[in-house]
Amino acid sequence: MEVVICKTKEEASRLAADMITAAVKKNPKTVLGLATGSTPVMMYSEMAKAVKAKKVSYKLVKSWNLDEYVGLAGTHDQSYRYFMNENLFKKIDIKLSNTHVLNGLAKNPEKECRAYEAQIKKAGGIDIQVLGIGSDGHIAFNEPGTSLSSRTSVVYLTPSTIKDNARLFFGGDMSKVPTQALSMGVGTICEAKKIIMLAFGKGKADAIKGCVEGGMSQFCTASALQAHNDTWIFCDEAAASKLKLKDYYAWRSATKLGL
Ligand code: GLP
Repeated sequence: MEVVICKTKEEASRLAADMITAAVKKNPKTVLGLATGSTPVMMYSEMAKAVKAKKVSYKLVKSWNLDEYVGLAGTHDQSYRYFMNENLFKKIDIKLSNTHVLNGLAKNPEKECRAYEAQIKKAGGIDIQVLGIGSDGHIAFNEPGTSLSSRTSVVYLTPSTIKDNARLFFGGDMSKVPTQALSMGVGTICEAKKIIMLAFGKGKADAIKGCVEGGMSQFCTASALQAHNDTWIFCDEAAASKLKLKDYYAWRSATKLGL
């Protein structure tokens, strides 16, 4: 795990976007795993800037998103499909038909999940998986108590995640947040060749501590990334503030990145 600690979230978002831009330039057929939430928004803007500046093209890129709320159509303004269209897909030259988000209205959700996994496999697997982290240490919607080898399935949100997501979305109304989602599993996520996680603010400090320096445990599903050998965590100083070895991680990652 490499932890890149930046002064600001702007800088962290730019560095993470640069890593993706460089990878897509090198392999125009990169398969991306994408995340929603407030955290990656700035990185997505930076990726869009690189497309506008003609530094890179996403014409041949395919993407699979981490998760979607059960019961929301892709046209619903709080669905993750809608979020991706607005915050990234409309701003880059990716073909919408090459982008994939789980269908929250699937009649047979388990079948939908199995088909999603099969699609990813057929595409050769995810080259780069983007992740945020929940304040309880979850990745995608894999809440505490989820097996670290879980696969894409129907999952159940904790009251704390429902509260967090209502605060930022759904106009603050907890009763409007769906209680279930379809989510890539922890095991599915860990199969990505490279993982880029973003975490900003002091509200993520405990989660990052658990992810990087806690024991590997299903109570912080992000800790499964400890067993992944190409994970990069881009965070600001507040999110990194509880890490015991933060100076060491900052020095090591900056050296590796040539910063
Ligand atoms: C949701 C998403 C996660 C995301 C998390 C944090 O639970 N399923 O993928 O990482 O929210 O969101 P934010 O970036 O808004 O803090």
